[in-house]
Amino acid sequence: MQKALELAQSVAHVRTAPNPRVGCILVKRGRVIAQAAHQRFGGPHAEAIALEKAGNKAEGATAYLTLEPCCHSDKKTPPCVQALIGAGIARAVIACKDKNPRVNGRGIRMLRKAGIAVTQGILRAKAQELNRFFFHWVRTGRPFVTLKMAASLDGRITSAHRWLSNQQALRFVQQLRKESDAILVGKDTVRNDDPRLTVRNNKKPAALQPLRVVLDSRLSLADRMPRMRLSRNGPLLLACTPAAPMTNREKMRKAGIDVWTAPDADARGHVPLDGLLDELGRRGIVNLLVEGGGKTATTFLEQEFVDEAWFVMAPLLSGPQAALLYSGKEKRFKHAQVRALGDDALFHVRMLRG
Ligand SMILES: NC(=O)c1ccc[n+]([C@@H]2O[C@H](COP(=O)([O-])OP(=O)(O)OC[C@H]3O[C@@H](n4cnc5c(N)ncnc54)[C@H](OP(=O)(O)O)[C@@H]3O)[C@@H](O)[C@H]2O)c1
Repeated sequence: MQKALELAQSVAHVRTAPNPRVGCILVKRGRVIAQAAHQRFGGPHAEAIALEKAGNKAEGATAYLTLEPCCHSDKKTPPCVQALIGAGIARAVIACKDKNPRVNGRGIRMLRKAGIAVTQGILRAKAQELNRFFFHWVRTGRPFVTLKMAASLDGRITSAHRWLSNQQALRFVQQLRKESDAILVGKDTVRNDDPRLTVRNNKKPAALQPLRVVLDSRLSLADRMPRMRLSRNGPLLLACTPAAPMTNREKMRKAGIDVWTAPDADARGHVPLDGLLDELGRRGIVNLLVEGGGKTATTFLEQEFVDEAWFVMAPLLSGPQAALLYSGKEKRFKHAQVRALGDDALFHVRMLRG
C-alpha cells in the first residue's frame, strides 16, 4: 500500500484534478504483476491501466488500491468496480473510502457482493492526507486553500532585494505550485512584481501550468495586463466586481483574457471570496494556492478561507516602508510545526475547522 500511495503521489495534482490521485498495484502469489497511477483527468483510472497491463493474469490477484474504486457511470470513464469484478480479482485491499457521495462505500459493497474479499483502512490516514484537497472539494464544492507567504522577521513581505527568502525556500514554493490547480494573487502584486507564477522543471516552464487568478475589482490592470508575464505563461483568470468599467472588460475580451465578474462586491467593495471560491470549485479547481500579497492574505485569513498555511521567515528586518504580511485582528495558530530551510524558518499551520 505504501508503494501504491507513492505511485499516486508521483502524479502532479494539476494533471488529475478534479479527480483524486490514485495508485493501484496487482499482486499474485507474492509478486507484483502490474501497477499504475491515475495520470490525467479524463484518462483511464489506475485500476483500468493496471488491469489492462495484467491481462488474464489478473484472475485471482489481490488489488491494492489507495482509494475505494468508483462505481458510478455518469462520468468520462467506465466504473472500475465492474472492471475489477470482470477481471476476476480475488481480494481488494483499500486504503480509504471515496467520500464522493456517489461512491461513499457503494464500491466496497459491490465488490463484496460479487464475492471479492475486501480489507479496508490500510494506511488510511496517509491516503486521506494524499487526497485531502479532493475530499474537501467534494464536501464543500470549493477548493482547498493553501496560503504561502514569505516574510522578514518584522513581518514584512517586501525587501530591497529581489528575493526575500533563500533558494531552498524558492524550491519549496515550486513544490507547492506543482500540487496546485490554481494560484491566486492580488492585483498590486501583479502591478508591482510582474510575476510569472509558473511551475518550472529544471528552470524551464512545465508543459501544464496551473490557472493563475488575479483579484482586480475594477480591472484596473486592463491596460497593462496583455504585456504582463502572467498573460503569456499559462491560463489566466481575472476576478472583478460589477464596478469594473465595461471598457476594461472589453479590452480583456479583445486580448483573449478570461474575466469572471462577481454578482456583487463584498462589504469593502472587493471581489467576494466566497463567490469566487464557489466559481473556482465549479471550474474543477480542487487545490488553490494563495501567494499574496499582504492585503489578499489578510482577507483570506480574516474571513477564515485558509485551510493550510506555509510561512517562510527570512533572517532580515525589512523596515517600516515594506508591505505588511497581515493587517487584521490577532490570530494565534494551534499545532504549528516549524523546520529550517537553510537559514530560513518554515512554519506550517493547519486550520482546524469544519
Ligand atoms: N513575500 C511574499 O510572500 C509576497 C507574496 C506576494 C506579494 N508580495 C508583495 O506584496 C506586495 C503587494 O501586496 P499588497 O498587500 O499591497 O497587495 P495585494 O494583496 O497584492 O493586492 C491587493 C489588492 O487586491 C485587490 N483585491 C480585490 N479583491 C480583494 C479581496 N477580496 N481581498 C484583498 N484584496 C483584494 C484590491 O484592489 P482592488 O479593490 O482595486 O481590486 C487590493 O488593494 C507586492 O509589492 C509584492 O512584492 C510578497
